[in-house]
Amino acid sequence: MKRVGLIGWRGMVGSVLMQRMREEGDFSLIEPIFFTTSNLGGQAPDVGQGTSLLKDAKNIADLKVMDIIITCQGGDYTTEIFPQLRAAGWSGHWIDAASSLRMQDDTVIILDPVNWDVIKQSLSCGGRNWIGGNCTVSLMLMALGGLFKADLIEWVTAMTYQAASGAGAQNMRELLVQMGEAHRVAKGLLEDPASAILDIDREVAGILRDETFPTDNFGVPLAGSLIPWIDKDLGNGQSREEWKGQAETNKILGHVATPVPVDGLCVRIGAMRCHSQALTIKLKQDVPLEDIHGLLAAHNDWVKVVPNQRDITVKDLTPVAVTGTLTVPVGRLRKLAMGPEYISAFTVGDQLLWGAAEPLRRMLRILLE
Ligand code: HSE
Repeated sequence: MKRVGLIGWRGMVGSVLMQRMREEGDFSLIEPIFFTTSNLGGQAPDVGQGTSLLKDAKNIADLKVMDIIITCQGGDYTTEIFPQLRAAGWSGHWIDAASSLRMQDDTVIILDPVNWDVIKQSLSCGGRNWIGGNCTVSLMLMALGGLFKADLIEWVTAMTYQAASGAGAQNMRELLVQMGEAHRVAKGLLEDPASAILDIDREVAGILRDETFPTDNFGVPLAGSLIPWIDKDLGNGQSREEWKGQAETNKILGHVATPVPVDGLCVRIGAMRCHSQALTIKLKQDVPLEDIHGLLAAHNDWVKVVPNQRDITVKDLTPVAVTGTLTVPVGRLRKLAMGPEYISAFTVGDQLLWGAAEPLRRMLRILLE
């Protein structure tokens, strides 16, 4: 059995990964070795093979005996440890959720339902570095895979509605605390059916703007508002999250030399863990909507085309419907007024599953085949 080192398994993405590996019976196929950066000598979780003691995630000698390492520990850990491990001659497979190594020439961004051919090609050439993609990009590709595969997309813009979880576990908590505060100040008025809505609104706006409003993590209110910037300012008007759209899409697809333009605005909204995206797509030719539905639906086992009708859309094409599932619905498909090559789409996906943990455990399974 392959010795698989797990690092960062207690954090949010790591916990989702552990849950999915348990559900899919992955642990019965490997010898799991749990590492830690903060609890050396503590008890490792029992995943069906008894307990053991946690090993030091910074001990190169202990890491070097792994056949495969999966890390959800984060970018700083990767930046510190990965080069040391390779410099020490380690030739195992490195599977990583962090973005640090994503754009290096010797890495593949893994999303096997979309780029199995790119993964296979790299494996046959001795590839050993497998990096999970940005959640928004991976979810867009799970939804639009059929159109990319058919080489029908000339360009795409993604206007995103990204959940609190993408910013981290503490941010999810803060969103709920913010929601609670907004409700607290309006509670008395809400309970009085005769109260005026503008009085309620004034109280809520007042607390959202109050300097005591809890914003340690987001920096600004998200509840009752939105944040139209995600990640760093690249200094050219684009956010780093927006930059990733084109860079990562084309790397995932193996199109780096002839990139498909992908751009848009990334916005944080008050959803918990599902990212949504409104897409405008310019097709290379006029394709009937029915054919587009067929291509999208046939691409992978998780995408689900939602008919562009009100009742089913408001029920099935939402973060609430999708949260905690691997289903990636895509709907609101229609031809736009700009011409027959222009279509709209709206898609939702759980950013902790297909957006983070699932591609990692699937890469492990590929390596075990
Ligand atoms: N950068 C994403 C976000 C999450 O902030 O929502 C990780 O891919």
